[in-house]
Amino acid sequence: MLAVGTAVIGSLQFGYNTGVINAPQNIIESFYNETWTGRFSESISQATLTALWSLSVAIFSVGGMFGSFSVGLFVNRFGRKNSMLGANVLVFIAAAFMGFSKLASSFEMLIIGRFIVGLYSGLSTGFVPMYVEEISPTSLRGALGTLHQLGVVIGILMAQIFGIESILGNASLWPLLLGFTVLPAVLQCALLPICPESPRYLLINCNEESKAHSVLVKLRGTDEVNEDIQEMKEESQKMMREKTVTIPELFRSPVYRQPIFVAIMLQLSQQLSGINAVFYYSTGIFERAGVSQPVYATIGAGVVNTAFTVVSLFVVERMGRRPLYLIGLMGMAVSAVFLTTAMALLVSHQEWMSYVSIAAIFSFVAFFEIGPGPIPWFIVAELFSQGPRPSAIAVAGFTNWSANFLVGMGFQYVEQLCGPYVFIIFTVLLLGFFVFTYFKVPETKGRTFDEIAAGFRQAAGHGADKYSAAEEFNTLRGDDPDL
Ligand code: GLC
Repeated sequence: MLAVGTAVIGSLQFGYNTGVINAPQNIIESFYNETWTGRFSESISQATLTALWSLSVAIFSVGGMFGSFSVGLFVNRFGRKNSMLGANVLVFIAAAFMGFSKLASSFEMLIIGRFIVGLYSGLSTGFVPMYVEEISPTSLRGALGTLHQLGVVIGILMAQIFGIESILGNASLWPLLLGFTVLPAVLQCALLPICPESPRYLLINCNEESKAHSVLVKLRGTDEVNEDIQEMKEESQKMMREKTVTIPELFRSPVYRQPIFVAIMLQLSQQLSGINAVFYYSTGIFERAGVSQPVYATIGAGVVNTAFTVVSLFVVERMGRRPLYLIGLMGMAVSAVFLTTAMALLVSHQEWMSYVSIAAIFSFVAFFEIGPGPIPWFIVAELFSQGPRPSAIAVAGFTNWSANFLVGMGFQYVEQLCGPYVFIIFTVLLLGFFVFTYFKVPETKGRTFDEIAAGFRQAAGHGADKYSAAEEFNTLRGDDPDL
């Protein structure tokens, strides 16, 4: 718990910086305006202000794209633990840029700070799930993997609460709100040195069996770790044959083509579900839906978000990944239909529809956290063995952040075009991803990394067109194909 808890401070940072710019938008915009007036002796035009604000929001995901793509450069060279530790340098720099931007009358500093903390967050979305999955016992991998997402959602909620005007979301204290991201970094730097390195990294990458053994004894709380060691050794022997896998090789080799395709589609389904249309723009959506206290409705969404991540945490090892994912996608699609109906009817002055829209957004978020929120982040580490894992996580993370950027930048423009019908686009995408998941995503619950890789190898051997890994896995274990 100490090791996982310390690692997911990185996830909390990602969530905090996702949610932090939502509430104080107007106040920070006034600062941009004052700075502009101070420099050019005229007030900023609305178009420039909108462009500068969109840049300030979205540059975070650009940082995330670069960060997530670079994960592979660090994890094998410096190890999992030291990579997480070293990345904190970025938070200290980012917090200084953002926290002192007002004092220096420079919105450029704020934008640079958002980019740098985005770099950190991109690295974290690779480092954290990788480390957590590698130290977890097989039977708890899903539950502990979900703690990454729990860190994210708690971060978002904290940012929403601190962003209330009477706390830090006001004209004098907003630099503190942004600079606060330094506190979790200090905590993580204090705790990481007493956390163990990943035993899989020690044994498979560094060939340090005795160190791996003693770390495992500590992590599992028992001397009986031979089974774990044996399983890693088997994976290690296979790895000798397959060597380290680069990103282009992931796409060329028939063995990895199917799992990387599944990983990419799962990341796309998470982001193109429309979840961040809610987390970046909910206050505006609620306002247009006629809600009288939109900021509190946004915080309500944050609370529901957190509560259902906890639900997922407790059921993911019992129900498995696939059923939760399918339920989540379908539930989101249905909620999006309700939301659209409510928004459309509101136009014809059915005022009670604003309550339906709140309920629809809450259930949209709840279904997201049941499956599509937590699962993509940890399942990539499960779909690949030690050799290809860093490259696969980099590709998956990059896909996720790119789609995040697309929704963050594009949503407002598409909304202007489609009006209350904007969520229909997400409904169609969600149904498409449901069909994909049903046919192509295998169950990974309770299977060792080695067994999962073997499932894909056999599927590739049979020709991926004829058999999907989903079917292949089930014939391996003789399970019901629906589970
Ligand atoms: C996931 C997504 C992130 C989103 C969050 C909402 O972690 O990756 O983009 O903001 O869930 O809870």
